[in-house]
Amino acid sequence: MPAPVALAGGRTLTVRPVSAGDVEALLSLYRSLPETDLYRRFFQAHLPPRTSIERMAGAALRGDIGLVAEVHEPDGTVRLVGEAACAVLPDGDGELALTVAPSARGWLGPYLLALLCDEAAARGLPNIEADVLQDNHPMLALAQARGYATMDHSECPSTVRVVFNSVGRVPTWPPGHDRRRVLVEVPGARWHAEAEARAAGLRVLVCPGPTSRWCRCPAVAGRPCPLAAAADAVVDAVDPDTSEAGRALLRAHHEFHARTPMLLEGPPAAAGVLDRLLELLPPPPR
Ligand SMILES: CC(C)(COP(=O)(O)OP(=O)(O)OC[C@H]1O[C@@H](n2cnc3c(N)ncnc32)[C@H](O)[C@@H]1OP(=O)(O)O)[C@@H](O)C(=O)NCCC(=O)NCCS
Repeated sequence: MPAPVALAGGRTLTVRPVSAGDVEALLSLYRSLPETDLYRRFFQAHLPPRTSIERMAGAALRGDIGLVAEVHEPDGTVRLVGEAACAVLPDGDGELALTVAPSARGWLGPYLLALLCDEAAARGLPNIEADVLQDNHPMLALAQARGYATMDHSECPSTVRVVFNSVGRVPTWPPGHDRRRVLVEVPGARWHAEAEARAAGLRVLVCPGPTSRWCRCPAVAGRPCPLAAAADAVVDAVDPDTSEAGRALLRAHHEFHARTPMLLEGPPAAAGVLDRLLELLPPPPR
């Protein structure tokens, strides 16, 4: 675990693994959240039952990761101000949960997330996945800053499933190659044909390409992109005519991923793009 962090006013922040004795402190943390934050964390606007919190506190017993952040006051009182957890998923990735007390926001979220990623990497979990409400801008900003791709979008509630690597600049494909892999690069990381493509049996990851504020695109930084290199096809929907980043991406694909079939799309988004993609792809794995 990291060394204690000195805070203003003689206070100290420590981070340690969660334990069974943390149930009451976790409940206090969740009680301190406004309804919006409770909904963002639990997808319901009320506290989860105590049994769920006890389960969280027992993360280590199941082989999952759970961390808590505490502020130690000069008078000896201790307050739990954050929690970060990662449950091991069947695909070998980790499923993220993260909460920071409103009074401690501003830097603790990215700090706890970085520690959780280090722990996940040490356990051999390549990526972290999470369902995030589409209006949860602070959480989306954290995911974007770590170099995310999107795995799916849902409505009612409106969520996006994000994935980012525990150590590297971009996530990796899930293990096994049971479905044809399509990497789509489009600003905003939402592709108009993704649902159709998934319904057609393709595994689709959508990345925001190099135009976002948090660009972590390895290709533009002069290195191969592991997602593009291991894809069966790339759809590049980043306009090369209006941005230098779009041109750099195209050059990088030619230089590093020349063997991966590529479809250039718009803007505007093209009708019939899925048919063109299916023609370009190799036959499905048997
Ligand atoms: C998500 C959460 C853990 C983030 O922790 P935090 O300490 O607030 O993190 P920060 O204050 O550093 O904010 C994270 C990023 O969001 C940005 N941000 C904050 N509020 C924002 C807003 N309203 N719109 C857009 N971006 C926003 C910050 O600028 C920062 O990005 P930057 O590092 O590029 O500047 C915290 O807000 C929280 O506990 N939310 C409620 C529970 C939750 O949503 N959990 C995640 C469930 S998946």
